[in-house]
Amino acid sequence: MSNVRGEFSSRFGFIMAAAGSAVGLGNIWGFPTQTASNGGAAFVLVYLVLAFCLAYPALMAELVIGRHGQANAVSSLRKLTNTAWQSKLAFVVGFGGIICAGLILSFYAIVAGWMFSATLEPIAEVASMTQTQSWLADSSMSRNIVFTAAFIALTVLIISKGVENGIEKWSKRLMPALIGILFSLIAYVLTQEGAVEGLKVYLVPDFSSVLNPQLLVDALGQAFFSLSLGTSVMIIYGSYISKKENLVSLGAMVTLIDVFIAFVAGLLIIPAMYVAQAQGVEIFAADGSLLNEDTLVFQVLPALFDSMGSIGLLVSFAFFALMSIAALTSSISMLEAPVSYAVERFALGRVQATWIIGTLVTAVSFTILVNIETLFGFTVSLTTKFGQPLLGMLCCVFVGWIWHRAKLLKEIESGCPEVGSSFFWKVWPWYIRFVCPIAIAAVFLNSL
Ligand code: PFF
Repeated sequence: MSNVRGEFSSRFGFIMAAAGSAVGLGNIWGFPTQTASNGGAAFVLVYLVLAFCLAYPALMAELVIGRHGQANAVSSLRKLTNTAWQSKLAFVVGFGGIICAGLILSFYAIVAGWMFSATLEPIAEVASMTQTQSWLADSSMSRNIVFTAAFIALTVLIISKGVENGIEKWSKRLMPALIGILFSLIAYVLTQEGAVEGLKVYLVPDFSSVLNPQLLVDALGQAFFSLSLGTSVMIIYGSYISKKENLVSLGAMVTLIDVFIAFVAGLLIIPAMYVAQAQGVEIFAADGSLLNEDTLVFQVLPALFDSMGSIGLLVSFAFFALMSIAALTSSISMLEAPVSYAVERFALGRVQATWIIGTLVTAVSFTILVNIETLFGFTVSLTTKFGQPLLGMLCCVFVGWIWHRAKLLKEIESGCPEVGSSFFWKVWPWYIRFVCPIAIAAVFLNSL
């Protein structure tokens, strides 16, 4: 570690951590489900365009704010300001992002808890622990409380170890494991009957639906959620990048990995749906829409695993382990956003701050669990439909309107001298000034 704040020790470490934040349940569950319910390949096409043309520039804005500030999100944003109202706005955006990250963590931990218990269920079955198995399988309050708390505790343990020994070390272990499991599962599913039909739906677009406003809104929301934007997470991860690193290529790598894993997860889930259908599991309604969007992972896929005989147990274990790992590398980034703020703002020790915030998040998670019918959907919409796009847009406004253009380019040039002469980066500040905020606002207003 080269300074007191902590810093990623290597380029690979940062890429694994930031890609670990980006790659999560949103890629492996959210993206394929959205694709299936938005008509297949047309959604994929729109998603790719929005991810590279809007989400990547917005990601660069957040990373560059953090790298310049070398501090938590609020302080980093404040360093760009000149007037009192700008400083207030910096607080609203930075702190708003931190709250958004905490709220996302509180519902994400519930879903991740389901993944954890589903990972253990095949093990209980093999060990003939019938009672434990049925407790794990049944979505009871006791099970959900235990696994939500266990997931948050694991996240707390990793974050309390700091940037290099916690976030970086675990992301470097977990991300390659995730990629290995994902590819093994795809290799298996693609050999099954029905998979080719699923591949066609996934890869051959119906261009007539490309400009459907709902599809655009869904694709943008998905891209922002997937790149963890508007949550202060990428600002804080940016602040741990050394000034010697090439920010432009790091941001591009993270976007590419995120989009690639979402795309590859689609190669698993969508063919798996058609394989399940070939085996008699009902997936689509008569009009072709998904029968059960929300239960894809917990009903459709388990039915598929059951139909595979004894190998199904192994496949089921691998699949839910994959989901749990993806969730964990994302949740650690969500916790880091508030922890880094608390450590720097209130001069708390990292371990103390992590446990305090972990406890608060657990309390919110339990409140959501107890009122799941009303609060779960509300929290998801509040954060992902409103919070993330609005805060992400405001970060673009900070970089495009409040920060001085020459200083911005100087920050990007540090570690990447060729930027000064590149056409793209001459255009980017204008792009982030006009195109990104207007396009994000347009899609956002459309969703209201
Ligand atoms: N990007 C994560 C996913 O796709 O599952 C979710 C996420 C992580 C959202 C971190 C927000 C965040 F701050």
